[in-house]
Amino acid sequence: MTKSDLHHLSGIRILVDQSYRKVRQNDLLKNIFETIIQYRWEDHLEKMYQFWQTVLLDEHTFQGSPFVPHPHL
Ligand code: HEM
Repeated sequence: MTKSDLHHLSGIRILVDQSYRKVRQNDLLKNIFETIIQYRWEDHLEKMYQFWQTVLLDEHTFQGSPFVPHPHL
């Protein structure tokens, strides 16, 4: 994976999937995510693809509120 892979959505999907595979194996992070997201992983990953598509490609597919879930964590 190189920087240029992030110029299209398929590369972004691969990077997000790889990152969350690591998160779900990380002792510090896995319980936080599994407790909150539970059976909603597909939706969460879809949102994360859209978030990074919006940030990196300037294609505004993300409609969420990125700040909201984090302060209490
Ligand atoms: C250790 C750090 C982090 C933790 C523990 C964390 C945790 C979470 C969790 C549990 C959710 C899901 C909330 C839900 O659906 O109920 C979430 C959503 C999200 N996170 Fe994080 N997060 C972290 C860092 C980040 C970073 C660095 C970014 C982006 C730069 C980010 C962007 C987002 C976005 C875009 C969502 C979706 C918000 C929405 O539903 O509208 N998070 N995060």
